[in-house]
Amino acid sequence: MSFNNLDTLYRQVIMDHYKKPRNKGVLEDDSLTINMNNPTCGDRIQLSLKVEDGKVVDAKFEGEGCSISMSSASMMTQAIKGQNIEDALKLSKIFSDMMQGKDYDEDLDLGDIEALQGVSKFPARIKCATLAWKAMEKGLNDGDKQ
Ligand code: FES
Repeated sequence: MSFNNLDTLYRQVIMDHYKKPRNKGVLEDDSLTINMNNPTCGDRIQLSLKVEDGKVVDAKFEGEGCSISMSSASMMTQAIKGQNIEDALKLSKIFSDMMQGKDYDEDLDLGDIEALQGVSKFPARIKCATLAWKAMEKGLNDGDKQ
């Protein structure tokens, strides 16, 4: 596939998640709630995580933001549901490396997340893409209710 076709495909994947976000909403009960905003624009996310026996059994998000931030949140919640905490944090590290243009294991199947790799070329948008991931890291590392 040529670079142009790949770009178009990635753009379609991003817009699909933006228009039809997966896991939109708020979890009740004993879920963790993490609120975070992007200091550069003020956009925000509220992430709810339900963790049981070291596993992320459910994840939902609400928020306002650009297509990159909201599609990234949709992809992230899709990717971590059912993962254990360690694997979710590992995935977050891989995503962070991808955003910084660092090498990562390109044989890994990252699914829809790969559509965001082009964001690394636009430094001003990296905080958009990483917003939901930072919220997830904070929730899983701290386990705080906020
Ligand atoms: Fe605000 Fe992207 S412009 S999160």
